[in-house]
Order: sequence, then structure tokens, then C-alpha cells
Amino acid sequence: MKGLILSGGKGTRLRPLTYTSSKQLIPIANKPILFYGIEQLVFCGIKDIGIVVGDSKDEIKRIVGDGQKWNINITYIHQKEPLGIAHAIKVSRDFLDDDDFLLYLGDNLLNDDLRSFIDDFNEKELDEKILLTEVKHPEMFGVVEFKDKKIVRLIEKPKNPPSNLALCGIYIFNKNIHPIIDELKPSHRGEYEITEAIQNLFDKGYKLGYSLVKGWWKDTGKLEDLLAANRIVLDRNLKLNIKLDLDDTVSIEGRVEIGEDCKIHNTVIRGPVIIGNSVEIDNAYIGPYSSIADNCVIIHSEIENSIILNNTTIGSIKKRIQNSLIGKNATIISHNEKPNAHSFMIGDNSIINLGE
Ligand code: TTP
Repeated sequence: MKGLILSGGKGTRLRPLTYTSSKQLIPIANKPILFYGIEQLVFCGIKDIGIVVGDSKDEIKRIVGDGQKWNINITYIHQKEPLGIAHAIKVSRDFLDDDDFLLYLGDNLLNDDLRSFIDDFNEKELDEKILLTEVKHPEMFGVVEFKDKKIVRLIEKPKNPPSNLALCGIYIFNKNIHPIIDELKPSHRGEYEITEAIQNLFDKGYKLGYSLVKGWWKDTGKLEDLLAANRIVLDRNLKLNIKLDLDDTVSIEGRVEIGEDCKIHNTVIRGPVIIGNSVEIDNAYIGPYSSIADNCVIIHSEIENSIILNNTTIGSIKKRIQNSLIGKNATIISHNEKPNAHSFMIGDNSIINLGE
């Protein structure tokens, strides 16, 4: 079985970060989201993985590489325009050939053993298999309608959801999906919809199976979900690991991971917290569920429940920064000079809440 991970898309809900980078490269606990998906597939024994990429293809190729890191083979497939998930399968036709494949949306995080999901597809000789999970707002997802525990219909973003079981971004297909996708027409939102392709396959009498998520699943398409995923991963995966000698001006509580070449003084760090390499922190409080990437500087400031990307400087901010996602090379500073005013240079679609 091959793997196909989708790492294109527009990422409109995570602008402005997605103007300059891919959302699948945003780090969760200091590791790009995309790596979690690749590692899932590798764990299931899948060694031939295609990654569908869009405009940020060069950055993804540079960071992910050719697969040697995981001892697998990675093929990049360029989707010139993000015309939908089914379209991403269509442009991957040469790579997929006639093989069965596991399709994984690259901004999804799943803590579940997918091996039984794959085994079930093989043992029952299914044509397609979907992974479902209970969601609070089914009207925002592709939702499944059941009758006598059997799927009878799939509906994309229904106004009156027939159940609260939604499709996670994880599917298995065999080669029968390709002619179905070839016949698809764009939906009202201009995309080739995977939900419609699954429905059509099902209507033609092909065998559809499903499983329910047993552990947890997160779609990290928007800020709150990213922060939630960061909290879950820090809660579960983090171990105490500090790669420097700290002096007695630093107080560490709970599970905290600190990388190499950091300079930390006069600071309270309350875990779970992960801090990358070459980070400078002085006179600060770093509170639970913070992930701080390499080369950041944090001085006279407090941070909690936030993700801070590489090379960012935060200095002398009086109020605690919380529930925030701060991009690469950003600077947030405050000074006491007159006039006492806010001064910004902010990218399009940024969100700033001064909390005053
Ligand atoms: P979505 O989150 O549904 O779409 P998006 O990435 O364009 O984001 P937004 O809604 O905020 O604008 O996409 C799910 C995953 O599939 C995500 O990892 C991106 C990927 N994708 C592609 O690779 N190609 C596509 O054409 C689409 C629509 C999505």
C-alpha cells in the first residue's frame, strides 16, 4: 500500500502565516505537523509516500527531504491549483498507479494505531474505507448518515446533520476511485469534493467500510485547533529533558524540554513547555503549553499556551501573552519612551488583541 499526504491547499484560515509558509509546517511541540502524519504512515509500514504540494513546495521539500530520515521513499507531486482533495488524487495518478493507497490530510493529527484500519481494509477486501469521529459541529464537516449501523449517505457540510460522525482526513482507496474522480464536476465552491467521490463509489455498489477513532484526532486548520493540538502533544509526549546547566535564578516545574545552547536566567518555567535550541530567556515566565522554537529571545515578558516560531523576539511586554501563534522572525517589544503609543508593522489578515 502507498501513502498519499496532502500538503497543498490555501490555508486561508491561518493567514497571514500561510502567505509565506505552508500550514503543514507549523510546529506542534516544535515539530512540523506534517512530520506527525509521515511518522504515522511509517509506523504502519508504508514506505512509498507521495506528498502533494502547492505554492510552498520548495520549503516543504527542503524541510522534509527525500525520506531518508525515516528510511522511506518520498515523491513530491505538484498540484498547481488547490482544486480540492479529489483533484489532489487526480494529479497523483502516475505516482499511485493501480495500487491501494492511504490518503492522509497533512494538517491532521491522529493518535490512533492505523494498522488495524489497514488490516480491516485488506481482510474485508474493501474498495474504500473511511475513518470517522464524533464532532461538536458536524455542519462544518463531511458527515455520514446511518441506517441500521450501515452507511447510507455522505453529505458535505450539511445544514441539518443526520449524525455527529464526521469524516477525518484519513481514507483508504483502491484503483476504483480513479474513474469516479475523472467523472467528478466541481462543486458549488469550485472544488472536486472527496465526499462526493466516496458517495459515487458507494452508489455504484463498491464496498465501503468505516472505523471510528479510538484515541484522538485534530484538524489543525485554525488557531484554536492548533493550540489544542499543541496542548495534547505536550501533555502526552513530553519528557523532562534539559540540555544545559541552569543556575538557581531559574525555577522549573513539571515536564520541561530545553534544547542546546540556550541562555536562561531569572525565569520561572512551568511545564509542559518545550524550548528549542539557542533560545535566550531572561526575566520571564513561560507557562504551561508553550512551544518556543529555535533562536527566539524572550525578555521581561510572560507567555502561556502559545506557539512561537523561529527567530522571534519578545521584549518588555507588560501583560501576559497567551493563546497566541506568533510567526517566524517577528518582533514584539515595548519601551517607555514618549509618546506612549502602539506602533505596528503587521501583515495582511493578522489578528491583534491588545486585551485592554
Ligand atoms: P483544507 O483545510 O480543507 O483546505 P485549505 O488547506 O485550503 O485551508 P483553508 O480552508 O483554511 O483555506 O485542506 C485539507 C488538507 O488538504 C490540507 O492539508 C491541505 C490539503 N489540500 C491539498 O493538498 N489540495 C487541495 O486542493 C485542498 C483543497 C487541500
